Amino acid sequence: MSIEIDVLNGGESWPMAKPLFDAVWPSDVVEKLPWAGIVFAHAELRVLVQAEPEGLVCHVGIYRREVKWNGRKMRAGGIGGVLTREDKRRRGYASIALNAAIQTLKDEGSTDFALLFCEPHNVPFYVGRGWKPFDGEIYAEQPAGRIRFDAIAPYVYDIRRAPRQGVIDLCGLPW
Ligand SMILES: CC(C)(COP(=O)(O)OP(=O)(O)OC[C@H]1O[C@@H](n2cnc3c(N)ncnc32)[C@H](O)[C@@H]1OP(=O)(O)O)[C@@H](O)C(=O)NCCC(=O)NCCS
Repeated sequence: MSIEIDVLNGGESWPMAKPLFDAVWPSDVVEKLPWAGIVFAHAELRVLVQAEPEGLVCHVGIYRREVKWNGRKMRAGGIGGVLTREDKRRRGYASIALNAAIQTLKDEGSTDFALLFCEPHNVPFYVGRGWKPFDGEIYAEQPAGRIRFDAIAPYVYDIRRAPRQGVIDLCGLPW
């Protein structure tokens, strides 16, 4: 089995990624999730894993953001939209795509830490891949103004060094 892993411009590759989002997160499913109604940022880059003959089997979005941790500027690498086609799970695709996303952030050289938000049932997956809980508070922008973002739990990954406590202001929409 051969797979292709590409890291593409987020906007240009959205048409490729959208059918996978629609399949995994149709609107009737999303409206029951804890993050229903939240407005999220668009990914700047996308890791796309394609297999033969299925096509796109897995997606990971990458967001780069200057955030504030306890008022101090830091470079966060956001990870979001981690999705594998339902019939292609437990084959390592999301692990491969996450590794490619982290490697992309490391290669850029300017990222202090990676940050993602996840629902409780996915926590063992991320903890098993080196992610640690961020035990502080997260603030983010929404169209109606700044909110405390606590709909889904934050997890961090050391690139240089990740904060584990305190206050992170995402200085923009969440991801
Ligand atoms: C969470 C999600 C992305 C994981 O995708 P995936 O491609 O199945 O992930 P992986 O295959 O890399 O790993 C999943 C599990 O399968 C195991 N696995 C990987 N390859 C395997 C193989 N060849 N045979 C059996 N198990 C395997 C992994 O070890 C892992 O188990 P572990 O966490 O106990 O170690 C997927 O379940 C999904 O799309 N869920 C719905 C959307 C969602 O909730 N996304 C997360 C948003 S934060």
